[in-house]
Amino acid sequence: MENNNYAVKTIDIKRTFKKSSNLINALKGISLTVNRGEFFGVLGRNGAGKTTFLKILSTLLYPTSGQAWVGGWDVQKDGQNIREIINLVSGGEESGYGILNVRENLWMFSQFYGIPSSIALKRIDKYLEMFGLKDQAKTRVSALSTGMRQKMNLIRGLLNNPEILFLDEPTVGLDVESARHIRSFLKDWIKENDRTIILTTHYMLEADELSERLAIIEGGEIIALGTPSEFKGLSQTENFYELTVNNFPESLDINIEGVQLISKLPQNGNTILKIRLKEDSLLSELLASLNQHGTKLELLKKKEPTLEDAFVNLVGKSSIDVSGA
Ligand SMILES: Nc1ncnc2c1ncn2[C@@H]1O[C@H](COP(=O)(O)OP(=O)(O)OP(=O)(O)O)[C@@H](O)[C@H]1O
Ligand SMILES: [Mg+2]
Repeated sequence: MENNNYAVKTIDIKRTFKKSSNLINALKGISLTVNRGEFFGVLGRNGAGKTTFLKILSTLLYPTSGQAWVGGWDVQKDGQNIREIINLVSGGEESGYGILNVRENLWMFSQFYGIPSSIALKRIDKYLEMFGLKDQAKTRVSALSTGMRQKMNLIRGLLNNPEILFLDEPTVGLDVESARHIRSFLKDWIKENDRTIILTTHYMLEADELSERLAIIEGGEIIALGTPSEFKGLSQTENFYELTVNNFPESLDINIEGVQLISKLPQNGNTILKIRLKEDSLLSELLASLNQHGTKLELLKKKEPTLEDAFVNLVGKSSIDVSGA
């Protein structure tokens, strides 16, 4: 076992896909180490390569080139060893058999994982209770709501008591309370037995709350790596404002040096502009210019930098498109 000190270590992982005559470079050389016990977040726009990366680490896909170890095992040679110590849960996944009920379905997976039946059923019932699915234990999988199915999938991912858990957008589509419940569960769960979680998400607040460190992947490459506070610090020299304005011309280009329009979002007949200023003194110039175009200021807020601001700064565009365009 090489590199056993890390939960995950990758060296220059590349992955290409063939689509008709085109070659897609989904990963262009990812080198990363994730420590044991770490809660690690992966951010990036749609198509950035996040899922491809998790699939390689979970041995569902081979890299085209490069090397990766999970729990010290080589993804290209030791797939079986890796599968025993990991699990992968994807937000929108459809795994499971619709005709089985929730408890039967989870039990079936526990048998795939080779868990003795009595231990498995105890675990299943414990988690059904914890995730508020007890009343659905006998409901057919095909009759579950999206959120219930997702919770069931998360339980599936916990059944083999993995050392390293890969979560691909685990809270997508969940109601606020369920998402919050899952986040708080994960924060407790990771503390037991030095477990490791690598999570992808498009929810910046979730990434901020959970991740000890974060990587941003863009176009198949890591473009930034650090703690959430380091990310937020990246933008602390500048000033962010949120302006609610009325009568903002759709085609208006704000052309003032040192003023950057990050996003515009229509709301109740107004437009919310997120603005980055190199210095505060540019604000009066901006307001004068808006005024010239007949745009009226309704509300002005100074915003502390958020992870979302940092993300937008680095990637140039939000992963959740708030531009309204
Ligand atoms: N099986 C496949 N065949 C062809 N192309 C693929 C395949 N899987 C992924 N890709 C391509 O690889 C790139 C990365 O996709 P990936 O699913 O890893 O992105 P992602 O970061 O997970 O995006 P999202 O946020 O939308 O889930 C995309 O261009 C995608 O079209
Ligand atoms: Mg994905």
